[in-house]
Amino acid sequence: MDHLRVFPDAAAVCRAAAEEFVRAASEAIGARGRFAAALSGGSTPRGLYALLADDGEPFRGRVDWSRVHFFWGDERCVPSDHPESNYRMARETMLEKFSPPPENVHRIPTELLDPEKIAGSYERDLRRFFKPAAGEPPRFDLILLGMGPDGHTASLFPRTEALGARGRLVAANWVEKLRAHRVTLTLPVINNARRALFLVAGGDKAKALDAVLRGPRRPEDLPAQAVRPVDGELWWFADRAASPAF
Ligand code: 6PG
Repeated sequence: MDHLRVFPDAAAVCRAAAEEFVRAASEAIGARGRFAAALSGGSTPRGLYALLADDGEPFRGRVDWSRVHFFWGDERCVPSDHPESNYRMARETMLEKFSPPPENVHRIPTELLDPEKIAGSYERDLRRFFKPAAGEPPRFDLILLGMGPDGHTASLFPRTEALGARGRLVAANWVEKLRAHRVTLTLPVINNARRALFLVAGGDKAKALDAVLRGPRRPEDLPAQAVRPVDGELWWFADRAASPAF
């Protein structure tokens, strides 16, 4: 079941997402003693991470951060202090503010350089942490996702190999349009989440969002359409600029 909530602007999207993050964290920690969240990259979630870390806002104090495990939905194959690093963005906007236990921060190890080695190492980290049953993907409590104007999500870009990756939790994905590899969670992992939450803001996303939510299903061209949690909730938080037709 897709749920779409439309907000006036990106700041309101992030504030609602912060509320959702805290709610999901409280539920997971209460039920299972820990909260496993995969963070998204790009620019949209910056405001969310800053709100969560700001002790002047009503979010930080509501979470036992020692029980929160941070993962990433995808990463660029750059050093972790590179301006393009999704890890660096989360570290600067949030993690530096409350320094979670190092073992709670499951960074995608781009220092391994080779994309396949990076993917393999991160997959082993996921398996160590979640201890999934044989053949079962790990089950995140929350996976944050963004969407590009081309309908990509995480680093699942249109007509790229990782879209079809099954049996693997993490894939190294060559993205021709970027002339670069990315490392990304695969769809079986994303679709096994208890809750997948897209944050979409900006008029440049409007065409893709309309196509994804209301157009014919063509996930090869619109990977965000492939996000269909098998036993979980799918939420879209969008600003008015990205969702004029809704
Ligand atoms: C990344 C993200 C990617 C992002 C979308 C939207 O590594 O870039 O994981 O999937 O969420 O490209 O990015 P913006 O929020 O910057 O528009």
